[in-house]
Amino acid sequence: MEYRLGPAQQAADGREITLEVKNLKVYYSTPTGDVRAVDDVSFHVYKGEILGLVGESGCGKTTTAMAILRMVQPPGRIVSGQVLLDGVDLVKLNESQLRQVRWNTLALIPQGAMNSLNPVMRIHTQIAEAIVTHEGKQPKDKLKQRILDLLTMVGLPSRVYDMYPHELSGGMKQRVCIAMAIALHPSLIIADEPTSALDVVVQRVVGQTLLDVKKRLDVSMILIGHDMGLQAQLVDRIAVMYAGHMVEVAPVRAIFAEPLHPYTQLLIESIPSIKERKPLKLTEGLTHDLRNPPPGCIFQERCPKVMEVCRMERPQLRPIRPEHYVACYLYE
Ligand SMILES: Nc1ncnc2c1ncn2[C@@H]1O[C@H](COP(=O)(O)OP(=O)(O)O)[C@@H](O)[C@H]1O
Ligand SMILES: [Mg+2]
Repeated sequence: MEYRLGPAQQAADGREITLEVKNLKVYYSTPTGDVRAVDDVSFHVYKGEILGLVGESGCGKTTTAMAILRMVQPPGRIVSGQVLLDGVDLVKLNESQLRQVRWNTLALIPQGAMNSLNPVMRIHTQIAEAIVTHEGKQPKDKLKQRILDLLTMVGLPSRVYDMYPHELSGGMKQRVCIAMAIALHPSLIIADEPTSALDVVVQRVVGQTLLDVKKRLDVSMILIGHDMGLQAQLVDRIAVMYAGHMVEVAPVRAIFAEPLHPYTQLLIESIPSIKERKPLKLTEGLTHDLRNPPPGCIFQERCPKVMEVCRMERPQLRPIRPEHYVACYLYE
């Protein structure tokens, strides 16, 4: 059976919603219990926007991405929830229906993608392989032109066509990965920490490439990262995760002007500014075990504003004002 997209969802204000994640739970089973890597997470992505997904290492960003693509590997599993792409629930699709969606409408730039380019294959062969695998054989000259166009689109010179990965800088390799991701005309690209291994200047170049691609192709994007400073320059809205929970979602300007969740406040305070390098207020890693989360708010143990109610029941993510969602009792 051929997979067909349903009618696009619409938000209350009329903007089209491309992707809607509802109450998603993804657990990893371990001998000592389930790791609740993604625990009842909801958010959406508007058509044509870049949504930044941020939070420190281990908070569940990659697991969320993998669940959207239905690529969670054992011992992980989607426990419950919905992933609605243009209104169709991907969680319910079978493998053959999924295969079509995955490459034709969704594209992933995996974490560390630039280091997984095949070292003994020329760049054009790798891009061609991605295209031919999903679209079948094509006339040689047409394929070549398409690959050259893709390289141009990501700001790479045509000589890259014949090069090997080791002849390219990190930034160039990452742009090759972006070219591969857009090769099949996806409507949503998920880029998992695409700039993390790069130095600051190159990060900006790759970030700009993502912006150009988004504009040219009118795609939606989920940009995963932990660098709030870089996110601020690239994304339209930011979704903040902490220990498997979504704690705040808001337009980028609103979240920097007035971060509501105490965790978001700490994240923003710890952005190193160019003038003075502030020490990080956050320690890397989580303070409690995701196997056995405490009742109440997931951030209670690190929260400078913790109240009694925070230890009792989990706060729900709700809109405090239009488009500004937060899960925190300070605002109830
Ligand atoms: N195969 C696995 N088995 C058990 N726990 C896992 C596995 N993979 C990831 N996790 C746990 O799931 C949580 C989320 O991981 P991940 O999604 O990779 O976070 P992020 O991308 O935000 O760094 C982490 O606490 C991690 O330890
Ligand atoms: Mg990750």
